[in-house]
Amino acid sequence: MSENDASRRNFLTMAAAAPAVLALGGMAAAQDSSTAGTLPGAGKAALITGSSRGIGAATARRLAREGYAVTINYLTNHDMAAAVVQEIEAGGGRAIFRQADVADAAAVGALFDANEEAFGGVDVVVSNAGIMNVGPFAAMEDEAFDRMIATNVKGSFNVLREASRRVRDGGRVITLASSIILSKPAFTAPYAASKAAQEIFASTLAKELGGRNISVNSIAPGAVDTQLLRQHGEAALAGIPEATPLRRLGQPDDIANVIAALCASDGAWINGHNVFANGGLS
Ligand SMILES: NC(=O)c1ccc[n+]([C@@H]2O[C@H](COP(=O)([O-])OP(=O)(O)OC[C@H]3O[C@@H](n4cnc5c(N)ncnc54)[C@H](OP(=O)(O)O)[C@@H]3O)[C@@H](O)[C@H]2O)c1
Repeated sequence: MSENDASRRNFLTMAAAAPAVLALGGMAAAQDSSTAGTLPGAGKAALITGSSRGIGAATARRLAREGYAVTINYLTNHDMAAAVVQEIEAGGGRAIFRQADVADAAAVGALFDANEEAFGGVDVVVSNAGIMNVGPFAAMEDEAFDRMIATNVKGSFNVLREASRRVRDGGRVITLASSIILSKPAFTAPYAASKAAQEIFASTLAKELGGRNISVNSIAPGAVDTQLLRQHGEAALAGIPEATPLRRLGQPDDIANVIAALCASDGAWINGHNVFANGGLS
């Protein structure tokens, strides 16, 4: 293992190290309903970027189970996005999927248009699409830096700007930060900076949209078992369960549950915050 490999592995252990500032665990369960007529998302629509897999797909499935009509978005994985839609429809839900690069403002506008054409409007927007390039600051190449900033910062800006124009009164806007913004491990500076931007986006936008009864928050997951981490190799996940008070690695559903809690009526008073969701690793 090279020095860089060892350093990348360490940063992943450290990335999950951040305090949980809000305890939301009971809220999601409190909002579950087995009665179709009382589903919290009945008559509402949710748009989730980057929902062909990982946290975004888990969020789409969860919100669909809560009665939301959902718009699935992907960059390249057409078949995975289609499979999420098929699964939701098989469960009795409503969903569409559209390709759009969030870094492209026009494509994001077209994505929201597609949602409106299908479902009449949008009540929940989750800016989830993101990529993670890591390595020594001195070795970070322009292309890797530029693509990550274009996706994570400009892309989320595009999505949140469109959301601020289109989300219906009483809605929710959520963007994905990361617990890495507290632990600040070496070799992650550009990624961590791109995720820190989400906390600022959410806390400031909350002040702009509050007059329309719209809550805006960021969620900061710790390490979650998705391709975003697995692309760095199995060793990247080593040690994280043992170091986590809840003794396991985060799963996409752990984050989808917190998103659902914020979307529920009981979550309305949580506004302008960055919500850490990391199993207590600190
Ligand atoms: N996993 C973690 O440990 C962790 C921790 C903290 C925060 N987060 C954040 O959580 C979010 C989701 O992460 P994840 O782990 O679920 O990632 P993932 O499994 O790698 O999935 C990424 C998703 O984003 C989509 N995507 C990537 N670039 C895009 C673009 N330019 N336009 C539209 N869609 C794009 C991908 O689409 P394709 O399938 O078409 O490529 C995919 O659906 C990210 O913002 C990430 O920074 C993750």
